[in-house]
Formats: sequence, C-alpha cells, structure tokens
Amino acid sequence: MTPVRVICILLCVTVAQGYRMFADRIPNGQQVPHPCKPNVLWHGVGHFNVDGGGFRNPFGMDFDRAGRQWTEALCRNDSDGDGRTNGQELGDPDCVWKVGQIPHSTHSLSHPGICDPMDSPRCQDKKYDWGLFHNQREWMEDACKSSEFNCSAIHDQDVRTMTARLDLTAVPPQETTYICQIFEVDDVLNDYHMIAATPVINNSYILHHMVIFGCEDSVSTRSAFQCDMLPDPKCKMILTVWTLGLNGDCFHPNAGVRIGKNGIKKLAVQLHWNNPGLIDHYQDSSGLVLHYTPHLRHYDSSMFLLGNEHFIIPPRTPSTVVTSRCAPSCTRHKMNDTIYVTSAFNHMHYLGHKMRLEQFRNGALVRTITNDLIYDYDSPKMYFFNDPIPVEPGDELKTTCDYSSTYKATTTFYGESTAEEMCYAFMSFYPFQSMQQSPFCTTWGSISGCDPETYHGCLGQEEAKYYQDVGTLDIFHNVTSNCRPFGPCTTECMDTILTARASDPCLTSGDPWDRLVTWGLSRNENGRNFLASLESCEIELYKLANDKDIIH
Ligand SMILES: *[C@@H]1O[C@H](CO)[C@@H](O)[C@H](O)[C@H]1NC(C)=O
Ligand SMILES: *[C@@H]1O[C@H](CO)[C@@H](O)[C@H](O)[C@H]1NC(C)=O
Ligand SMILES: *[C@@H]1O[C@H](CO)[C@@H](O)[C@H](O)[C@H]1NC(C)=O
Ligand SMILES: *[C@@H]1O[C@H](CO)[C@@H](O)[C@H](O)[C@H]1NC(C)=O
Ligand SMILES: *[C@@H]1O[C@H](CO)[C@@H](O)[C@H](O)[C@H]1NC(C)=O
Repeated sequence: MTPVRVICILLCVTVAQGYRMFADRIPNGQQVPHPCKPNVLWHGVGHFNVDGGGFRNPFGMDFDRAGRQWTEALCRNDSDGDGRTNGQELGDPDCVWKVGQIPHSTHSLSHPGICDPMDSPRCQDKKYDWGLFHNQREWMEDACKSSEFNCSAIHDQDVRTMTARLDLTAVPPQETTYICQIFEVDDVLNDYHMIAATPVINNSYILHHMVIFGCEDSVSTRSAFQCDMLPDPKCKMILTVWTLGLNGDCFHPNAGVRIGKNGIKKLAVQLHWNNPGLIDHYQDSSGLVLHYTPHLRHYDSSMFLLGNEHFIIPPRTPSTVVTSRCAPSCTRHKMNDTIYVTSAFNHMHYLGHKMRLEQFRNGALVRTITNDLIYDYDSPKMYFFNDPIPVEPGDELKTTCDYSSTYKATTTFYGESTAEEMCYAFMSFYPFQSMQQSPFCTTWGSISGCDPETYHGCLGQEEAKYYQDVGTLDIFHNVTSNCRPFGPCTTECMDTILTARASDPCLTSGDPWDRLVTWGLSRNENGRNFLASLESCEIELYKLANDKDIIH
C-alpha cells in the first residue's frame, strides 16, 4: 500500500453535516452571542461546541425533538431553564417567526441553551447526563477559557513569519472540496526551524481543516487547484495540521521542522471545504502562518501516523472495536534509534466514541500515550508531552478505536467521505533523522506493510503479479479456460481451483485475498473475469472445507 492512501486522514475528515443550515431555521440563528467572549458568535447554537458538531446542548436536544424546526412549542419552551423562553432569547418573543423572515428583535439576544446568569449556583449546577460535561459550570469553564494561542516562542527575537495562504478562490457548490496550493519557502539560502503555525481563517462557514505538507524540491509551485488526498505525489510529509477546535500548533521547545537550505524548500497547503448547503457564492482565502527562526533548535521534528485502513462497522451496534499494531519488526525496520514523541492526537469520524494509543515493549505495556474515554470529533484532544516519550526500535504501538453505530441503519466502512470512518493516531516526534523509512505505520485489516508475518504467505512477489495484467498469467489461463464465469462448477474447474490454491497462498481467503480483490483484481476486465471464474465453485469449496451440506 502506498503512503498516499495513508495520508487520507486529514483529507478525509468528515463534518457535522449542515449545522450552518440549521442556523437559518431559527430566528437570529447566525447572530447568537458567545456568553463570555465579546464579538464572538456561537455558530453551533444547538451544540456544546461553539463551532457546532459533536454533542447537542439542551437547546439542541429540544430542537432535534421538535423535528429540527422552529415550532411554537420549541419557541415557548425554556430549554436552559433560566426563566426566558427560547423565543425571548432569540428575538421572537411572540413565537410568530417563520424561516426567511426578519425576527421581531435582532438585538439583546442570548443563548437559548445556556442558563443565565451564568455565575449563579442554580445555573452552574445544571446537570447533563450526556456528552463531555457533567454540568454547566464545566461547560462554561471550557467555553470561556482563553483561546489565545499559548506559544511564547513565537514572540522571540528574530522569529519570522511566512504565510501559506490560498489565493482568494470561489468555493464550489458541492459538499466536499479539497483545494491545494504549492509554495516555495521564503528563504531557501539559509537554514531555519519552523516552530509554530497559526490559522488565518477567511471563511469560517466552510473551512473544515488545513494541512501543511512538505514537498520534494523538484515539485513546481502552483496557485490554487482542486486536489485529492495528497496535494501532489511529491508532497507527502505532514508538517502541521489545523482542524476545528484548534487555535494553532506550537512545537516542543527542543525541536522544529527544518526548512530552507538543508530542509524543506517547497510546501503545500491543503484546505478541506465543507459546503453542505451547496451555497454558490462563497469565496475563501484561508491558510496558515508559519513561524520560523534562524536560531536552530536541537532537533528536527516530523509527524508519525498509525492506524487501520480496512474495517467494517455493522449497523446498530453499541461497540465495535478496531485495533491496529505497528509491530516490533516495523519500528525496528523504520527507526535506527530512539524517537521522542512530543505530542499526539486521535482521529476518527462521528461514530468514534473511544480511542487510545498504547506503547508496548517485550509484550508489556509501557504506557498509554493517548486515551480519549469520550471521543468528540469536533473537539480534538491534543496530548502534549513536555518530557517527550521515548519510543525505541522494537517497541510496539497499538491503536484501539471503538465505534458506536447504535443510531445507524447501514454498515460503515473505512473511507474518506462523511459517511465512512477512520482510525488514526498522529504523533509529533524528534529527531526526524532516526526515522529511516516513511513515517507511516498503518495496517490494512490485520496486514501490516512492514511485518511479513501478517501476510499469511502472500508476500511481495506473490502478490505483486496480480497487480499487473492477470491476463498474462498462467494461472489466469488455467482458471478461465476450465471454469465458466459464475458457474456451473465443473469437475475440471474444481480441480483447477484446488491446484491453484495449493500453489498460491494469495488465493486463500483472508485479508491478503480481500486486499488483492479490492485493489487489484476488481479493477480491470481480466481481473473481474478471473474472479467470476473462481466464483463458480464457491459453494462446493465451502462444502468441501466444512465437510457438510449447505442448507438451502
Ligand atoms: C421543553 O424543554 C424540556 C426541558 O429541556 C424538555 O424536556 C421538553 O421535551 C421540551 N419540550 C419541547 C416541546 O421542546
Ligand atoms: C501556556 O503554556 C505554558 C507552557 O506549556 C504553561 O505552563 C501555561 O500554563 C500555559 N498558559 C495558559 C494560559 O494556558
Ligand atoms: C477574506 O479575504 C479577502 C481577500 O483577502 C478579503 O477581502 C476579505 O475581507 C476576507 N474576509 C474575511 C472575513 O476575513
Ligand atoms: C541513523 O540514521 C541517521 C541518518 O541516516 C544517522 O545520522 C544516525 O547517525 C543514525 N543513527 C544510528 C544510531 O545509527
Ligand atoms: C496451469 O496448468 C498447467 C497444465 O495443467 C500446469 O502445468 C501449471 O502448473 C498450471 N499453472 C498454475 C499456475 O496453476
């Protein structure tokens, strides 16, 4: 598998669909003030998170119960229990407002989900038996804490900034767009360390996440263009990530990303736009400000990605656990010395409800690196390690993702779209030089690219031949000339398949075979013919393997 797939994580973040649209369904929905930050609006009125998404607050619960419409009952209700009705708080005291109209009042608004006065014990003790906060005090402590970027190093003398910002570009009226732009760093004649990155958010209505990738020198600079998972095959190194809920990335004081003469000379910014309302008049020119210094720090840093890229979550299931091992053989193969982890965070989509990353040595747990007991996609929890965590070659890193699909009626697969799921852990580490191979250690189901034991005998060459044109293979000729597509199962077909399976471990069911079908055989005509021919004896082979009759 290519690292290209792996990088998907960032590009694949999904979104609270349409919370901005809901704002238009309540009076003054785009104008609700933040209770403790002047000039800040609470965009996600029905959510605990100011930007929307994640768990609903008391008003959001009632809005949902009302069918996500502004009904008279919802208007007359007092969701936060502070004595003012939702209608009074939102400027529709008589409950007469209809979508598209100008509300009775457009000022003196207050938040319909937050009990006022906030500092009264009655309001502070308001309990929630769902979500991340136990009561309003905890919620408000979180919401009102200073969101100023706490990174004193960026004020040091000689620290410069470079802006990697998208040219002003029209946002297409489609739900998901990835847009990229490739830059040269400001000074390629001297050495610098990038030590922090802060977001410039130009259109908060659609901006969902941003990633800065390091590129090879030979890539050409390019103005804004729609891109895929990777900005370019030559831009594969993840340098920094911004998502909803973060206000910047401040690197560990011992380390920085090397840019300039002996470091990265070209970089790409990638934005994920989420436009579920399919609005056709938005523009955006968001990006990141990179803070860099000529005073080189002790170590060069980079990011390491772990996780699983092939799993299935059944519908209506309270808990589905997906694990992934970066095996001892993998860390030994990738690293020639200890690396030090300075920060880490987990990433799943909306079904994700718990996740952890653990480190093992000689089979024994050394420590739990990340541990989200309640995972909330919209409020990523960053783990910082002032004393960086040493990870040695030969250590095992295990990610465990736990999903809840109780409210979903269909099966969920790994994937990049909104409806799909992910299971990734990111770690920032130094020194970059100890990582000899690509800093990705993800698995495909149970298969790990760097652990031959997980290949079940279907190793490199064995597998590789199926990714070329199978039409040229002996085995293709044998199977397609003795079997008819989809049957019936003839004696000679059965014999051919048994011979083929006995000689080629890749053809036995299991993750290696599934991967071959998904990425190789199902993608071309000859591959599909081959599969259809193998298919013809499926039932008979099952009977043979299980030595019993199938009940029809
Ligand atoms: C009114 O609010 C209460 C408390 O939040 C809630 O239990 C009830 O379901 C709400 N009714 C309506 C119609 O929203
Ligand atoms: C800012 O970061 C420093 C160092 O990590 C920490 O000691 C301090 O408490 C932080 N201040 C705030 C306001 O978060
Ligand atoms: C977005 O960027 C454009 C172009 O730089 C600018 O004219 C506009 O005022 C910006 N909007 C916001 C909300 O920052
Ligand atoms: C690991 O590799 C890097 C870069 O190739 C080299 O500088 C370093 O000395 C190596 N470390 C060890 C312990 O061999
Ligand atoms: C294909 O069939 C021929 C003739 O029966 C046999 O010698 C050969 O081993 C078969 N090849 C494979 C890959 O099964």
